[in-house]
Formats: sequence, structure tokens, C-alpha cells
Amino acid sequence: MTSNTRICVAGATGLVGSAVLRLALARGHHVHGTLRDATDTARTAPLMALPGAAGRLTLFSADAGEEGAFDAAMHGCDAAAIACFPPLYKAADGTPARALDRRRGYEEIVRPVRDGVLNVLGSARRAGVGSIALCSSTSSTNPPVPLAVKHEATALSDAEAQMADGKFTAAEKIVMETAALDFCVHNDMRLAVLLPTMMLGPVVLPEHMRSHGLALLSGLLEGRRAMHEQVPAGSMSVSHLEDVAALFLATIENPQARGRYFAVFDSLPWAEIYDILARHVPAAGLPAPLDGAPEPPTRFDFTRRDSLGVTMRDIPATIAATVDWLKTRPFPG
Ligand SMILES: NC(=O)c1ccc[n+]([C@@H]2O[C@H](COP(=O)([O-])OP(=O)(O)OC[C@H]3O[C@@H](n4cnc5c(N)ncnc54)[C@H](OP(=O)(O)O)[C@@H]3O)[C@@H](O)[C@H]2O)c1
Repeated sequence: MTSNTRICVAGATGLVGSAVLRLALARGHHVHGTLRDATDTARTAPLMALPGAAGRLTLFSADAGEEGAFDAAMHGCDAAAIACFPPLYKAADGTPARALDRRRGYEEIVRPVRDGVLNVLGSARRAGVGSIALCSSTSSTNPPVPLAVKHEATALSDAEAQMADGKFTAAEKIVMETAALDFCVHNDMRLAVLLPTMMLGPVVLPEHMRSHGLALLSGLLEGRRAMHEQVPAGSMSVSHLEDVAALFLATIENPQARGRYFAVFDSLPWAEIYDILARHVPAAGLPAPLDGAPEPPTRFDFTRRDSLGVTMRDIPATIAATVDWLKTRPFPG
């Protein structure tokens, strides 16, 4: 891809979308960014302040719930990064997703995402955009019988089983991926799907400080128990936000890239994550020690991820870089 490449970033004000947009601009690409209300200057100003934005970033209003809403944003683009489907935790009337029955859970949590991704892809098809990078999540990688080692080809959640369990917010992701894959196969579009979990690193908008990784770290730096009263027995997968953005661009820039890719560095037991955090934050905020042994962390086969040629930062380096960045007080006030 040349620096004349034009990329549509759907969800440009999002944690992931803004990181992809920032890196695309840094690499000299032109970007069409979307959010639902591009007249909201409080949210667009940080994007327009990014290096390269003045000459190469155009913002568009587009709601995934409306067919054709992304037509203008996709027009003239070579590729699209789609990161505009954050998990839905509540129905429109505020009922928690977990409390919904099967019919409402599907109609109000799962279906809007399925229909939404088809709307965005429909606009991409009409504009002749042939390359798509779609942001999903590792919540689509949990088959009913857990795998000893997760590989993208076999680590597929079962949407029906998740919905039968009331896990509509998780089921959204595999349903979205399946709908997107069918659409892209039928329309001869190249689809790569990125699968992140917790992301740390410098964020673009102040609102991203509420994402669970940044909220955890900034709370701990202030000496607050930000997420856990006690160290959990389980594990967490972590990646640096800029590495996730690099994986997105790698799939766009590599014409051979298609299919699913883990976008995590690795998974560690929370006990080890808190040991690393303890090197950087006051002890006051740290949770009580784990009672017993940690559970084995999720194990991944990273062959496909590594085929993209992106060097991922390890978890201690990611945490150290994020702490250093937070100490600069990037969003004073
Ligand atoms: N954040 C995490 O820790 C995390 C972890 C794992 C996976 N992921 C995945 O990453 C992807 C992106 O999540 P995120 O955390 O970056 O989300 P986010 O920060 O909440 O941002 C979502 C973006 O999508 C836009 N958007 C929301 N609803 C929309 C709609 N109906 N139509 C059009 N645009 C809409 C938002 O724009 P406006 O609100 O300005 O319209 C915003 O730009 C999701 O697939 C998510 O599952 C995130």
C-alpha cells in the first residue's frame, strides 16, 4: 500500500478505532473516520489534532443502524477498518443483557450488531472497498468445550450455547463475525478479523480512560483498588493498543492476510499481572493476595498473528510504557 491509500475507519472515536486512525495517519495514509455525530467537536477535536490530520483526515457522521449510512465515508476508500461495535451490555430500556430472555436477547443485543455490520459492509461493497479489517474480541473464541491451546481456526464460540446461557453480549461477536464472513465471501471482499482483549497504552480521547485496562491502571496509580478486592484466580490477556493498531494495518497492507488473528500478546494469571503492577504503583491500591494457586492462563497458538510480522510488546513492557505515559498527565483537569 502506498501513502495514497485511503482507509475508512468506522468507529474513529473509539478506543481501537482512534488508535488505528492515529497509526494510519502516522504512516501517511488518508483516513475517512466515522462516528455517529461528526459535529460533536468535543470528541472530534482530539482526532483533528493528531499529526497528519489537518491534510489527510475527513470525518463523517454514520450510524450502523441505518442502511447506506456509511456510503459517503466509504466512497473513494481502498480499505476499511471496522471498530464501531462495542459490546452491548443493556437493552434499549436499560434491562441488563444478562436478564433478557432468548427472544429479546437476540433481537436487542445480537441482531443490531449482525444487521449493523452488514450495513457497514454493504456500503463498503457499493464503494468498491475490497479489503476489510473487522474488530471482534476474544469473547468469540470460547467453544463449549475449552481448548488446551487456542487457535483461531478452532477457537469458535457457539452462539446458540452462549445465548442459552444468557451470554448475549458475548454471542454478538461470533454472530457478527459469521455474518461478515458470509458477506465477504459472497462479494469477493478480503476479510481479516482481529481478536483483542484488554488493551493498554496511550489512548487518544479522554473518554478512553474509562476502558477497563486504563481505568485499572490509573486507579492503582492513585492508590485505589480499581478492579479487584482480591487477586482473582483466573488470567487476563493483554496487548499494547499501538500493537493492535499495527496488526490492523498489517492485515490491510498484506494482500494475503485473511481470516481471524489473535490481537493479544499473551495471557498471564492475574497474580503475575499484579506482581508486575506492584513495581509501578503504590501498595495501597493493590488487592488482597490470592487465596490458593492461580488457574493456568489461556494458552494461544500465535502462528497466524506472528505471520503478520508485527513485533508485539510483552506485558511488563506494555504496563511500564502505559505507566510512563499516565505519569505525563496526558488529560489534565
Ligand atoms: N475496549 C476494550 O477493552 C475491548 C476489548 C476487546 C475487544 N474490543 C473490541 O473492540 C471493538 C471496538 O471497541 P472499542 O472499545 O474501541 O469501542 P468504543 O471505544 O466504545 O468505541 C466505539 C466506536 O464506535 C462508534 N459507534 C458506537 N455505536 C455505533 C453505531 N451504532 N453506529 C456507528 N458507530 C458507532 C463510536 O462512535 P460514537 O459513539 O462517537 O458514535 C466509537 O467511535 C469492539 O468490537 C470491541 O468488542 C474492545
